[in-house]
Amino acid sequence: MTASWFRAETDGALSAAAGEFFRVEFGADPAGAWAAPGRVNLIGEHVDYAGGLCLPIALPHSTVVAVSPRTDGLIRVRSTDGAGWEGRLDDVGPGRPHGWASYPAGVVWSLHESGLLPDGFGGVDAAFVSTVPIGAGLSSSAALECSLALALAPDADRADLAAVCVRAENDIALAPTGGMDQAASLRASEGHALLLDSDSGAISHVPFAPEGLSLLVVDTRAPHRLVDGQYAKRRAAVERAARRLGAPLRDLADRGRDGMDAVRGLRDDVLRRRAWHVISEIARVRLAVEALESGDFAEFGRLLYASHMSLARDFEVSCPELDNAVESAMIAGALGARMTGGGFGGSAIALMPTDRVDEATETILRRGRERGLTEPAFATVAASSPARRLH
Ligand code: GLA
Repeated sequence: MTASWFRAETDGALSAAAGEFFRVEFGADPAGAWAAPGRVNLIGEHVDYAGGLCLPIALPHSTVVAVSPRTDGLIRVRSTDGAGWEGRLDDVGPGRPHGWASYPAGVVWSLHESGLLPDGFGGVDAAFVSTVPIGAGLSSSAALECSLALALAPDADRADLAAVCVRAENDIALAPTGGMDQAASLRASEGHALLLDSDSGAISHVPFAPEGLSLLVVDTRAPHRLVDGQYAKRRAAVERAARRLGAPLRDLADRGRDGMDAVRGLRDDVLRRRAWHVISEIARVRLAVEALESGDFAEFGRLLYASHMSLARDFEVSCPELDNAVESAMIAGALGARMTGGGFGGSAIALMPTDRVDEATETILRRGRERGLTEPAFATVAASSPARRLH
């Protein structure tokens, strides 16, 4: 059985591809090109919107935007898969434009609202190329947003730019996501995981370059849509649980045993399990950081798997394709594996001895076929660079 792999490109190749696409679409050379990566979250899932801790890495897969300023106020955006839009700032509002274009148009709108568009902004031509697979739960939308935000406001503070992109996604694309993906894309560091405290906004960089181990990403290719309501339902349940408990779940997580007892006292079974996931996941992130700092990858792997079980059983955001990727990787010798991102499809990760990666992909494919599941695509990834200028 041959596995299909989704590959990253060098910055040089990406820059050349974006420049060529820009010339085809707009008939001139771009003024510059900017890249922003997708992400996988190592641990800390469905906690960012509850003020929790998460630990993503930037992927070697990026979205690149080639841009040139305009002077007539027009915004023209194009993507290599045929999507495009032309309009003005006044045309942008909640749900307008619709679909793919809401992300780039939303970024321009959100920069404007935050006062971060450079003085005299007169519109822009922007052409996007990407190696982040779309719909794979690897934050292709954050990569797109962050590449454009940085291209238009390169001197802005990166935390401010991340907030701008979150606002574009929440208010214009109408996806009620937290801020993890944009923080990872703009603020991660090569060779490190980004520890993000979503309550204070504080970040730190935790070394993540395990020797002899590989991080395998499995894009299940199962249908995955954050805007289809399930994500919003989970977020609403977490907020309802916090209201019933009279405290943000992050505060309860910080209170240790008292906080756990409070959550155990929730009468509603579904709310209790949702809240339990959140506070136990925040505890797992802290332990995972300790494990990484002491080089204890066996413990780190156990925490990844415990996170998956919590997401599957208590938070109920997994699916057969994700479970198969995780269980098969564990059978093939992973130290740990879990779904990553919002869930309901998308991708899983597995931390493997490098010499077991082939066995893992074969086991995932074989067991997936036995269960009649869509064939996934694979990548092995290292913690890579955040958003940057290419030329
Ligand atoms: C999506 C969202 C993030 C985060 C994850 C779940 O990726 O964009 O903000 O909530 O799901 O951890």
